Amino acid sequence: MIKAGFIQFRPVLGNQDENIKSLGKLLMQAQGADLIVIPELANSGYNFESKEQAFEQAEEIGNSKFVEFLEEEAQKNKLHIVSGINEKEAGKIYNTSVLVGPQGYIGKYRKIHLFMNEKDFFERGNLGLPVFDLGFCKMGMLICFDWIFPEVWRILALKGADVICHPSNLVLPYAQQAVPVHGMINRTFNITANRFGMERDITFSGKSIISDPLGKTLKMASSDKDEVMIADIDLLLARDKMVTTRNHIMEDRIPSEYGELTE
Ligand code: ACM
Repeated sequence: MIKAGFIQFRPVLGNQDENIKSLGKLLMQAQGADLIVIPELANSGYNFESKEQAFEQAEEIGNSKFVEFLEEEAQKNKLHIVSGINEKEAGKIYNTSVLVGPQGYIGKYRKIHLFMNEKDFFERGNLGLPVFDLGFCKMGMLICFDWIFPEVWRILALKGADVICHPSNLVLPYAQQAVPVHGMINRTFNITANRFGMERDITFSGKSIISDPLGKTLKMASSDKDEVMIADIDLLLARDKMVTTRNHIMEDRIPSEYGELTE
């Protein structure tokens, strides 16, 4: 049994110090959690006016005040943190999710499916879909609009993820409905940490959610305020892939019938 959850907040576009301050306060409410998820692009905000602005707000992971802040918090509170960040590397920027633990930086995922204007700013993710064994659980990461592609949830589950962490800045109002369904069909716990508020012409929908491997919603936040929610997660439920006594959700797949998926 572990404790995992999310922080929902409203990052301020272009004001990293303010974002760190808000998260510092909210992380105090996450004490006792083993794993906590923070929204997409939490260091920079989301709705950039230009490529130049997106680049100005990006950081290299090895030289990032924001990642250092996460590392300090993870060490102080003995927890693992997943957070969206605007990442710069070799003259390119990525919409990235970092994983840090009490010992420091562990790894990252770069968003594969870019949404709307993100296509003007970011490179598409080029690191595949890693799964990390934290000892107390196996976890993978997706970012926001990845939610609409069932393939990526399935791949993480096939690689053994018990928990899928999903930093988000969700815009489409029905996205949250899909999260428990992906969990149900892959038997994973899913944690979507969403933001709320407006940035220029975009409104984000809040309603961060934790769901279980049977598709049940364990926690859901409001649409318009800071919230920290943590659930007890029984990993045995995610590791039991039997849907009936004769149906294993992974072993019953027939990949020879799925050729179109990779065309
Ligand atoms: C999104 O992918 N941030 C909607």
